[in-house]
Amino acid sequence: MSKINIAIDGPAGAGKSTIAKKIAKALEIIYVDTGAMYRAFGLYCIRNQIALDEKSLIDILDDIHIGIRFENGEQQVILNNEVVNAFIRDEAVGKMASKVSAFKQVRLKLVNLQQKLAEKKSVVMDGRDIGTYVLPHADLKIYLTASVDVRAKRRFDQLQRKGIHQEYEAIKEDITKRDYRDMNRAFAPLKKADGAVEIDTSVLTIDEVVDKILQLIKTL
Ligand code: DC
Repeated sequence: MSKINIAIDGPAGAGKSTIAKKIAKALEIIYVDTGAMYRAFGLYCIRNQIALDEKSLIDILDDIHIGIRFENGEQQVILNNEVVNAFIRDEAVGKMASKVSAFKQVRLKLVNLQQKLAEKKSVVMDGRDIGTYVLPHADLKIYLTASVDVRAKRRFDQLQRKGIHQEYEAIKEDITKRDYRDMNRAFAPLKKADGAVEIDTSVLTIDEVVDKILQLIKTL
């Protein structure tokens, strides 16, 4: 197969980015993290105190230029000429990304960029609507899940490693709210795409999931 597009969707903390990165590396193709684009949009809104209503967001659409480039295979997200990778991983930015991503006009702007990338190159792209909306004709669609407890525990451990203490219950509540928002928005909500292979990562190691996906790719 000369060009290949792989779509990976799932809720926060299911292991999408770690797994997608490994698949991309094994196939020597690029990994596109679409969540990072929504996060860059969210960052702009936080920095500029943009109200979260349709009119305010539509008004700023033309002021926001989001691009991505790859350096040594790593995706760099550019917001109005600034590389913002270092500023988009906060929980507050993730929450804002989830909120702004519910607006159709915001999505259409970023989906356009995502589709252009996949048109030109082989990609492993992860997000919430890749198999259902962005790349409905992807060669392989994967839907990654994990119980909310497992996802909250992963996040808790990740924060502990960074020396940040946050109550487990608060993390679980944030994840539950984010899932609800992402799954219940009117336009392009998170759901398993038709034809997607569902993999529950609660009981598998990262490498087991990666192997499983690489096996599926071999059958294409
Ligand atoms: O995957 P992430 O945590 O970086 O994504 C942040 C938010 O962005 C997520 O809660 C919902 C939104 N998002 C989206 O709506 N569609 C995508 N394709 C990717 C992310």
